[in-house]
Amino acid sequence: MKAKQNQMEKLVAFLKDNGFINLSSEPYGGFSSSYDYGPYGVEIKNNLKKAWWDTMTKEFDNIVGIDSAILMSPKVWEASGHLTAGFADELVECKSCHKRFKADELVENKCPSCGGELSAPKKFNVMMKTFVGPIEDNTSVVYLRGEACQGIYMNFLWAKNSARMKIPFGICQIGKAFRNEITPGPFTFRTREFEQMDLQFFVHPSEADKYFEFWKEQRMNYYIKLGIKADHLRFADHPQDKLAHYAKKACDIEYLFPFGWSEIEGIHNRTDWDLGNHSKASGTDLSYFDQETKEKYIPYIIETSAGCDRTLLAFLSEAFVEFEKGRNNDSESVEYLMNLNKKLAPVKIAIMPLMKNKEELQKKAREIYDSLKFEFNTKFDDSGSIGKRYRRMDELGTPYCITIDFDTLTDNCVTVRDRDTMAQERINTIDLKNYLREKYAY
Ligand code: GAP
Repeated sequence: MKAKQNQMEKLVAFLKDNGFINLSSEPYGGFSSSYDYGPYGVEIKNNLKKAWWDTMTKEFDNIVGIDSAILMSPKVWEASGHLTAGFADELVECKSCHKRFKADELVENKCPSCGGELSAPKKFNVMMKTFVGPIEDNTSVVYLRGEACQGIYMNFLWAKNSARMKIPFGICQIGKAFRNEITPGPFTFRTREFEQMDLQFFVHPSEADKYFEFWKEQRMNYYIKLGIKADHLRFADHPQDKLAHYAKKACDIEYLFPFGWSEIEGIHNRTDWDLGNHSKASGTDLSYFDQETKEKYIPYIIETSAGCDRTLLAFLSEAFVEFEKGRNNDSESVEYLMNLNKKLAPVKIAIMPLMKNKEELQKKAREIYDSLKFEFNTKFDDSGSIGKRYRRMDELGTPYCITIDFDTLTDNCVTVRDRDTMAQERINTIDLKNYLREKYAY
């Protein structure tokens, strides 16, 4: 257990030191378990979002994407059940220090902070409130969305009609959601501001069970294909008495984090709850008319909802490797490797002129860098020994390092070093682009 804790602490420190993820508002000591993505963190996060987006919209012809607003009519949240007990945690409050705790997480019936007496459990809604317009009164209260998917339901008709979609079809979206979480952490696993990657798949009620199983399998395969070991993933069905207020059936995909098995994605059969309630509350008919069978019905929704920050933490945990005596077991110092899937790697190629102050090497290296940088995310690195630069690139997870040496100036060949095998290959610069394209043809 201690070793696992250490592993998480090392990962968090490593992610900060190497420009991946850090506390928000760091000069002020951090803020409310919010996190910022740095120069490499933002690249890998964008790569993850693109991988997910391409999986949804390119592998499946019957899925379209949207991007809806974070602020929506508060009526949306009334109809969805989020303002009532459905989206609330049971909290107890300490009568002495007034701290609040989740009732179901307490081991003893006394305050874990000061030992004081606790109040009876009370529901606490996790929706975040703000105001629209200049007057802050009850009429201007709005909510930061508690789940991104409600924006999809608001666009069900528009997306279906404008993209001429027929059931079964899906609408996907990547977007921020906010929850006033009582117990955030560890690290980016549970935060108050986070991003979700949602698919809402609309089906005939009779096919809901079939598509629930279909999407479970698809989503599990996605994680394995992107580099997570199958035995670090598992399904966890929700027991009937623990289902969210909107779900008839639910299953999580869990990942074996250093702090234990925890949910990274939720798959739900939301039935006709959402479109049914929004139809009633808004007066807009959100049913579907099947032109062939002449049947009119409220579609059932199969939802797959993955946390972007949380799944990214899973990919980073999976890829992080520490070598106590270097990668070749011959060093006095610890070396780290981010063994990321190439698709996710923040830097795809590093260009390394052998020496910094040799003009002809610099010129040739810059030429190669300029020819690659718009197609691949490429980094120019000319400081320190080549060995040191390889180690730096291993830490960022850069799959290929290209060295330009004095022979390059006569034979036009460069050395390409592979991150995973550490093998080196001489490649003619004329063939370099195609060589790399092949390496990156997923
Ligand atoms: N629309 C359904 C929904 O929101 P959920 O199981 O509450 O379902 C889906 O959330 C996913 O969103 C989770 O599996 C998790 O990856 C991510 N998520 C939820 N709350 C989060 C939080 N506070 N911080 C980071 N990610 C979170």
